Amino acid sequence: MAIGKHPILFTIFGGTGDLTYRKLLPALYNLMAVKVFPEQLQVIVVGRKPFTTQSYSEHIKPWISKYARIPFSENVFSEFLEHVQYVEMNFTVKEDYSTLHDVYSKYANAQQLYYYAVAPEFFSVISNNLLSCNCMLDSHTHQVLIEKPFGHDEDSATKLHQQLLDVFSEESIYRIDHYLGKEMIQNIMTLRFQNMLFQQVWNKDAIDYISITASETVGIENRGSYYDQTGAIKDMVQNHLFQILSIVLMEEPKDNDVDSLFTNQVEVINQLREIRVETIKDHVLLGQYDSGTIDDESVIGYQHEANVETSSNTETFAALKMYVDSPTYENVPIYLQTGKRLDVRSTEVLVVFKSVNNQRPNVLTIRISPDEGVYFTFNAKKPGNSQDVVAVSMDFCQSCVYENRVNTPEAYERLLFAAFNKDKSLFTDWSMVLSSWRFVDHLIDVIDQAQLEVELYPSGSSGPKSLDTFLPKSYFEFRTK
Ligand code: BG6
Repeated sequence: MAIGKHPILFTIFGGTGDLTYRKLLPALYNLMAVKVFPEQLQVIVVGRKPFTTQSYSEHIKPWISKYARIPFSENVFSEFLEHVQYVEMNFTVKEDYSTLHDVYSKYANAQQLYYYAVAPEFFSVISNNLLSCNCMLDSHTHQVLIEKPFGHDEDSATKLHQQLLDVFSEESIYRIDHYLGKEMIQNIMTLRFQNMLFQQVWNKDAIDYISITASETVGIENRGSYYDQTGAIKDMVQNHLFQILSIVLMEEPKDNDVDSLFTNQVEVINQLREIRVETIKDHVLLGQYDSGTIDDESVIGYQHEANVETSSNTETFAALKMYVDSPTYENVPIYLQTGKRLDVRSTEVLVVFKSVNNQRPNVLTIRISPDEGVYFTFNAKKPGNSQDVVAVSMDFCQSCVYENRVNTPEAYERLLFAAFNKDKSLFTDWSMVLSSWRFVDHLIDVIDQAQLEVELYPSGSSGPKSLDTFLPKSYFEFRTK
């Protein structure tokens, strides 16, 4: 989709918050540096702090210089500033919107994007104020961009959704899951659907199991109040891991058809086999980090983090063994794992194929972060006179190549660019949010009913001890990190 000639107004509510400084402005700067910043784009930053556009520009310089992917250049920065305007106002105060109205009225027929970089309880306040100031009249189109969490369960998500629908249509709601902006997650579809080699064997006849892992070394980082009410299942599984899962297992969408993409993704989530109380221990393993050592530094346990209950039972690690009840993947175990304060930082997908003649199985590893690439192991004859078989590998390290690193946009860069192009394929559809919450709400109910234990694991370890028997033995041999 090409961007038209109309002005594009990108308004950030929450313009003096962390997300804006660390992600949004550096991403926009990067777009300018790689020369894809739309020339008719104006960034309108809304904040309560008493900045002028001039003082705000000075204020954001160190943030951009620190967080932009492309090395800082004064020339690019001053070009970028020509497109940035600061509007001092309180977005909860109706009267303040007249200032915004004045700004908007200078741009007839604009494509309006509103980024709500604020807590969800303010979404409806802003939407209603935008409506009542007539700020949304005379526009070319409207789009609203929001960040997770999209609610904390099905009910709260539905309520939030209804509030947005009072003002916006589903078509104009862009829900950000930053994992969808990651290069290798987008590449999964190309790998699967553009290679005969993989396309033909992506099923229960050839696949032994699949594992999707997002392992972090960081702890909860000053987010105690949020995290203690949330836990790993809601923070990572319900959104990021389910997105990856759905892309790894969905049927091929019809060419460039976003509805077909969403339908096929949601189908995977709807086909997840229910996890039951009686067998929960075979399907769910929860853990919580204790004190330990990360990078030679001692770190405290979760229960001693600020704003966390001292006897908290919140999981910082979750592993799930799931099945997708579809004819294609019947009885293929799918392992999802995520945890904080683990020994490595790595997000990867492992597709372990069935063994032939008792040889080592082929394993396809899709490395999502921090390294990006594809690694494939297969069997070959050992050089020499014997007929012995050895496992060999092909390693496509995408991020090892300098040009690839420079040309690969970061998640927010890709997502903002897609939003300017009205490309919804990189955003989360409501049907996905709803189905994911339905599954997770039920799962959490079952965990509560079963009173499943949360196992402590030392920070810097590979997770709870029981993981050794929860996962297939071969996983520990095949994982690349
Ligand atoms: C966020 C979670 O959505 O994703 C964080 O709230 C987590 O807890 C982060 O650390 C992980 O993102 P990434 O891109 O570092 O894998």
